[in-house]
Amino acid sequence: MSNNKKPVVVYGASGYTGRLVCEYLREYGIPFIAAGRSAEKLHAAMKSNVPGIETADYEVVEVQHNTEALTELFRGASVVLNTVGPFAKFGPEVVQACLAANIFAKLGVRNRTSALTRAQENSLL
Ligand SMILES: NC(=O)c1ccc[n+]([C@@H]2O[C@H](COP(=O)([O-])OP(=O)(O)OC[C@H]3O[C@@H](n4cnc5c(N)ncnc54)[C@H](OP(=O)(O)O)[C@@H]3O)[C@@H](O)[C@H]2O)c1
Repeated sequence: MSNNKKPVVVYGASGYTGRLVCEYLREYGIPFIAAGRSAEKLHAAMKSNVPGIETADYEVVEVQHNTEALTELFRGASVVLNTVGPFAKFGPEVVQACLAANIFAKLGVRNRTSALTRAQENSLL
């Protein structure tokens, strides 16, 4: 991974929602890391499902789904967008990593519940 971190990490970028997020980030010219468990799938998803991806400032990062690896990935980013679900099953490691990497503090989130309600999976709360 490059030391020159992008401000946004899209975790689960190979999935349906993740690819849509990447498409918007490309459209708005926001550099991002497309992260997930398979670099091969991520490269394929970016190329085949994100129109105009060749104009985006992004990098693909393969990461294991555990708090330590995710913390390392998230550190230095300003925003993490998690689309690896179901969140009730896979969310805790991501939340722990965000806490360890200070992501909530950077976002100015005082009430973590308000950040998580976007998930539409209330069991995670
Ligand atoms: N789609 C919707 O309209 C919608 C609406 C509201 C909420 N949601 C929620 O948003 C989440 C994502 O939905 P989606 O439709 O985008 O799902 P999806 O297309 O199936 O994408 C799931 C993503 O999670 C990754 N993933 C799955 N299991 C993993 C694991 N064990 N370790 C690491 N990564 C893993 C997948 O990686 P691989 O590509 O490597 O398999 C993929 O990137 C779900 O929790 C869903 O309930 C979706």
